[in-house]
Amino acid sequence: MSSPLGNYFVDRDQPPLSSEEEEVVRQFHDLYYRRWIAKADTINLSWFGHHVLKCPLDLWIYQELLVRARPDVVIETGTKFGGSALYLAMILDQIGHGRVITIDIEVQPDRPAHPRISYITGSSIDAGVIAQLRQAVGRQRAMVVLDSDHCAAHVYEEMIAYSPLVQAGDYLIVEDTNVNGHPVWPDFGPGPMEAVDKFLSENDDFVIDQRCERFLMTLNPRGYLRRNELGTTLG
Ligand SMILES: C[S@@+](CC[C@H](N)C(=O)[O-])C[C@H]1O[C@@H](n2cnc3c(N)ncnc32)[C@H](O)[C@@H]1O
Repeated sequence: MSSPLGNYFVDRDQPPLSSEEEEVVRQFHDLYYRRWIAKADTINLSWFGHHVLKCPLDLWIYQELLVRARPDVVIETGTKFGGSALYLAMILDQIGHGRVITIDIEVQPDRPAHPRISYITGSSIDAGVIAQLRQAVGRQRAMVVLDSDHCAAHVYEEMIAYSPLVQAGDYLIVEDTNVNGHPVWPDFGPGPMEAVDKFLSENDDFVIDQRCERFLMTLNPRGYLRRNELGTTLG
């Protein structure tokens, strides 16, 4: 099905931000992150009673991507409290299509039960887990969300393992590319952004969809990747 809204989120008339405006965004991002996200165990964002470690602006982008792409399967690495999986599943409920498979090495109590959600316990880079996912996805269309261990080496390994599951036009989302000074948590060390840079330097199949960054603040700068097997640039 084509998108009901077509190219609605391309705004070609917006001028680039001035350096002063960029600084406002950077400062707001830093403030937001320090007050809300960095205290992950006392998180103040929930979806139907389940904690979610995301920014609402990104959740809105997820909703748009799900409606546009209508994936058969959403694979999420990093379940934590399950609130993000529940959010994805409830959007899929509204679309009337799709399921969520979410993977974590730990099982938190009170994870949400939902008919569209399957939980896998194990490491996202474990060969057995990856084989299980490949079999579950088969030839279906997958959206992949990488939100587990944020060290660059781990994220890069996930990108190599999971990117083949994503078909042309579909999305590989790398979460928390904002750490290691992009612009928050400068002492993090090489993280998701560095993994994305390495992956893209070696792969022409994915492009950064900057339309997903149009709310100015995202926890995933350069992290919304769209498979573009034809090598064309996004318009
Ligand atoms: C940032 S949290 C996930 C947040 C969740 N997706 C959300 O938006 O609410 C990261 C999770 O990754 C899990 N994790 C860490 N290393 C992992 C690995 N190798 N494989 C799978 N999950 C892992 C942690 O146990 C933790 O629950």
